[in-house]
Amino acid sequence: MNGPAEPIIQLRQAAKRFQSRGQVVDALHPTDLDIAAGEVFGLLGFSGAGKSTLLRLINRLEEPTQGSVRVDGVEMTGLSGAALSRARQRVGMIFQQFNLLAHRTALGNVEFALEVAGVPSAQRAKTARESLHAVGLADKEGAYPAQLSGGQRQRVAIARALATSPKVLLCDEATSALDPHTALSILRLLRRLNRERGMTIVIVTHDIKVASYLCQRCIVLERGRVVDAIDMADPRPRSPLGRFFFETARGWTDETVLPTDD
Ligand SMILES: Nc1ncnc2c1ncn2[C@@H]1O[C@H](COP(=O)(O)OP(=O)(O)O)[C@@H](O)[C@H]1O
Ligand SMILES: [Mg+2]
Repeated sequence: MNGPAEPIIQLRQAAKRFQSRGQVVDALHPTDLDIAAGEVFGLLGFSGAGKSTLLRLINRLEEPTQGSVRVDGVEMTGLSGAALSRARQRVGMIFQQFNLLAHRTALGNVEFALEVAGVPSAQRAKTARESLHAVGLADKEGAYPAQLSGGQRQRVAIARALATSPKVLLCDEATSALDPHTALSILRLLRRLNRERGMTIVIVTHDIKVASYLCQRCIVLERGRVVDAIDMADPRPRSPLGRFFFETARGWTDETVLPTDD
């Protein structure tokens, strides 16, 4: 369970408060978290729990309102300009809705990430092809997103994320929009990337099956707080919500206890 001395991802009292139109939302209360290099780590919780916010702190899509977020030895808080771009290239991300550019081919989508990263144009096509090959889509480089299935689109998104050789891959509900067969094939691909490249993967999910298949450790978030930390090899959830997730894996019965009454 214990990672190496220097975790690749380290949060120290990292918190995010949103304030809009007089409303204050503590999406994430001050949180400490260590994720070891090479680990597959899960963020479990219901909608609105703060999972995406925590994930987005890791690549600084969100700036924490307090605390520190270190990734691969670099303090992400306060970075800007070229230093932020460099740091972000070491952290890839994929999404539930794939977020591909509709007017670009599969190859064009992957090349775009390299363009943003400042890779010279002469190298882009070769690197992008290698990336598409790694996700099993070498024969689809000329296809537009509309011509691809959901699973193929997510593979293009993974190829795009891999193109800059990130050390960390963030996955926000990456298989939630896919049928179970396609979802498992994407999870298998993620597992292979973790094993073959030692890539650290952080996944957000509300699906215990996804977490059980892929993750070594998970935390459970509820209303912006970590309410459980679970070793997936020997799961002993302590919180009502954590227990509910594991109950879900066995199938619901009339005895299933709902974690909250709202
Ligand atoms: N940009 C934002 N502005 C205001 N509130 C936000 C913003 N992003 C998220 N929130 C709020 O923060 C809370 C956590 O959101 P989120 O991290 O997206 O949860 P999850 O991914 O677990 O569904 C929710 O109450 C959400 O409405
Ligand atoms: Mg979310």
